[in-house]
Amino acid sequence: MELCVALDLPTKEENLELVHKIKEYDVWLKVGLRSYIRDGEEFLKDIKKINPDFKIFLDLKLYDIPNTMADAAESIIGLGVDMFNVHASAGKRAMQEVMDRLKKYENRPIVLAVTALTSFNEEEFAAVYEGSIAQKADQFAKDAYDSGLDGVVCSAYESESIKKITDKKFMTLTPGIRPFGEDAADQQRVADVAYAKSAHVDFIVVGRPIYKAQNPASVVKKILEEI
Ligand code: C5P
Repeated sequence: MELCVALDLPTKEENLELVHKIKEYDVWLKVGLRSYIRDGEEFLKDIKKINPDFKIFLDLKLYDIPNTMADAAESIIGLGVDMFNVHASAGKRAMQEVMDRLKKYENRPIVLAVTALTSFNEEEFAAVYEGSIAQKADQFAKDAYDSGLDGVVCSAYESESIKKITDKKFMTLTPGIRPFGEDAADQQRVADVAYAKSAHVDFIVVGRPIYKAQNPASVVKKILEEI
């Protein structure tokens, strides 16, 4: 299991300060929409300048027509990131076209699909997707697997069932982790490191429990020890 630290601070400077504090650790860094839209490719370069061994997960959750998604995926190759994601609900044809377009690249990034956004409650989810979250998350995971993606973004509680219906090597990346039972804040279904490990999760994403801590480096160290 790997630790992915969410760079969700309000400014580029604060994000880079956090990266500095944890630069000696073997972790992934998650760059999301806000940071990427504001700070762009330069930000990715700044991270690599601090430690070229950091792996970067570009969390842009692509959703568009198949050709546009494949074009965007190809542009992402040029950024040199190690992982990115798309929405499974964009459909199998879109996911297949993305994977098809990336075939020619050696060492392409890991491609994950978002199943169900964790912000949805059942009622809101059904209004958009006409089904229960559990049922659709499994279906979206199967679609992503059949389309040749490497894994999905899901909750720690879905990791085992998704691996069962796809393959144990099909990766799961789970946000909503409270490493040692910290405050859940706005997350609905939180899990700790021990649970994620037992569910064979491949990547845990941790934001606030690290960047809001007095000493982020010591929290990272503790999580890595537990992993
Ligand atoms: O601060 P916290 O540990 O809750 O941060 C979790 C990170 O994972 C945030 O960047 C959040 O946007 C992201 N995320 C999530 N749920 C998803 C997908 C991404 O919490 N389904």
